[in-house]
Amino acid sequence: MNKINYDFKNRTAVVTGGAQGFGLDIAKRFLDSGGKVIIWDIDQKMIEKASNQLNSPNLSSNIVDVSNYNEVEKNVSEITKNTNIDILINNAGITGPTATLWEYDIDMWKKVVEINLMGTFNCCRAIVPNMIKNNYGRIVNVASVAGKDGNANASAYSVGKAGAIGLTKSLGKELADKNIAVNAVTPAGAKTRILDQMTKEHVQRMLSKVPRGRFLEVEEFTSLICWLSSEENTFSTAAVFDISGGRSTY
Ligand SMILES: NC(=O)c1ccc[n+]([C@@H]2O[C@H](COP(=O)([O-])OP(=O)(O)OC[C@H]3O[C@@H](n4cnc5c(N)ncnc54)[C@H](O)[C@@H]3O)[C@@H](O)[C@H]2O)c1
Repeated sequence: MNKINYDFKNRTAVVTGGAQGFGLDIAKRFLDSGGKVIIWDIDQKMIEKASNQLNSPNLSSNIVDVSNYNEVEKNVSEITKNTNIDILINNAGITGPTATLWEYDIDMWKKVVEINLMGTFNCCRAIVPNMIKNNYGRIVNVASVAGKDGNANASAYSVGKAGAIGLTKSLGKELADKNIAVNAVTPAGAKTRILDQMTKEHVQRMLSKVPRGRFLEVEEFTSLICWLSSEENTFSTAAVFDISGGRSTY
């Protein structure tokens, strides 16, 4: 794929769940485009691996559990002593187990919603005041087609992602009179580690619904994130951008 040049010079981005998968590729592209990146993740080993791989003076990373508001706020206070946060990619997420709602482990159900929905809320809650002060911000919330369609045997995940879509629409409108854009994206399946959390049959069912007939490539996803996070996105906000290979019809 021929990549367009984006200019993220003088921009600082927080990428949650950036130690691998989508988040890692987003971090790489932002760095390659001149930006500064702060990765928040809970996986220490993968953070180290990512730092070695990206090997950039413009990268920093911290262990932050996005479902813990105090942790998020503490990190935001530290960062904003020295710099503004211009871009927030709420990408951290887990699918949880594949199970019917009535057989779903209750604590796991809560955990999936805590990370996918409350994590998005927590990061927006803590970072938006800095963006308002600076009158600049680009927020992208990584949802999923599951949040639009509701995947069977994935009720917690579908709820968390549907909630992130609702949050995006609401927050986007609250900030619409400022140079701050808040959008959500709804990818279909891509081959990252997250697929290991689901059964093979479930993944196959997801794939069978995609008219493109293949998995989404991580770089294809990053392209959409880049435009939504760039200065050029001056009008689109409170919107949901589909990247499901034709699966979603709305
Ligand atoms: N890969 C897909 O098929 C697909 C499809 C639709 C949506 N998504 C969404 O894309 C996002 C990224 O997924 P991915 O495929 O790259 O998965 P991944 O498992 O490769 O990466 C997710 C990262 O999030 C981190 N994380 C998990 N819980 C966290 C927490 N509480 N705090 C901070 N970090 C945490 C993990 O450690 C991991 O590094 C997720 O929100 C996922 O739901 C993925």
